[in-house]
Amino acid sequence: MPETSVAALLRQIETVGADSKRGGYSRHVFDPAELELRAWFADRATDLGLTLETDNNGNLWGWWGAPGPGAVVTGSHLDSVPGGGALDGPLGVATALAAIASLQAEGFAPARPVAIAVFAEEEGSRFGVACLGSRLLSGAITPERALGLTDAAGTTFAEAATAFGLDIAALGADHETLGRIGVFVELHVEQGRGLADLDAPVAVASSILAHGRWRLTVRGQGNHAGTTRMAERRDPMVVAARVILAARQVAGASESVRATVGRIEAVPGGTNVIASSVSAWLDVRATSDREARGAVADIAAAVRSAAAAEGCELELVEESWAGEVSFDPELRDRIRAALGGVPVLPTGAGHDAGVLAAVVPTAMLFVRNPSGISHAPEEGATDDDCEAGVAALVTVLKELL
Ligand code: GLV
Ligand code: MN
Ligand code: MN
Repeated sequence: MPETSVAALLRQIETVGADSKRGGYSRHVFDPAELELRAWFADRATDLGLTLETDNNGNLWGWWGAPGPGAVVTGSHLDSVPGGGALDGPLGVATALAAIASLQAEGFAPARPVAIAVFAEEEGSRFGVACLGSRLLSGAITPERALGLTDAAGTTFAEAATAFGLDIAALGADHETLGRIGVFVELHVEQGRGLADLDAPVAVASSILAHGRWRLTVRGQGNHAGTTRMAERRDPMVVAARVILAARQVAGASESVRATVGRIEAVPGGTNVIASSVSAWLDVRATSDREARGAVADIAAAVRSAAAAEGCELELVEESWAGEVSFDPELRDRIRAALGGVPVLPTGAGHDAGVLAAVVPTAMLFVRNPSGISHAPEEGATDDDCEAGVAALVTVLKELL
């Protein structure tokens, strides 16, 4: 009898993609660590007698019963941010495996197909667009755009997907796979302190903030750090600093906006070299699409004037956008009632469930994270709370079946 506690399942993958330099885990779509996690999922799903499929867009499916319409689908993702925590993604996959094992152990016979989905490139850490697998599946991004995305090494998504074994001609909206999903429920570690503050183990989600990512590339004049007079510089790093400060100023002035520069790249990147160009990646979120876009416009205006003052050129590219999401209120209330009135919480984190909410009835469950920290090695949940998540998922699956 295979071990199916969440702690045991997560222990099986605790070394996969461990990042000794950054701490935490770096597991990026189609890289060796992510492929190892896919193989792990395939083994565990096979243990449960599930039928495995990889769809046209590289998402993995484990079917309990014959694949077909009206399926109750749960699951999450296995990729991570660079240096991420152990639970963002894998908790939803491990609890899905544990929930199906529990239903099988009690002899539950589902009246409809049940599936576990593992979505590809949820974090967008390799190719820049979050939830790429679910966006492709649902048609929220065109295959042409996806195929041209590149990673930091210059590998295109087309090359990586082909190497993985996908037929890139078949990439894109997949109505057959999508048409099988009757309802999707994603369980996720909470990425904030909502449940810790309420002293409760599990919540149901209400909404997701609007969220976009932009690349700002500033071009100036590369030059010598010792011989170039300060008044004669066209230094893009000075303008990049303005991106960071404007993000803090604009978002700091509003309760409903969050803005982050978490990544910056200088070319050529020498200590004694004035950079010739600097790219800064800006992540902006807000309670409404209008506020998110307004904040980006304000930040861009501040950076534009800094670029002009420094004699630099500015390029602003929107790499990713997802509007605000409100989860299906009827489904949310039904799940909440089935779980005895658990808390309802919004989140600022993006999820495949948010993408799928535009096309199928979708809900999310959150499991308490004592520190509230996520996208960092300190992300966590107690074993008891993970099992409370499994119990909640079992209840929800039964309710929906
Ligand atoms: C993904 O977790 C995101 O919110 O960026
Ligand atoms: Mn994440
Ligand atoms: Mn996630």
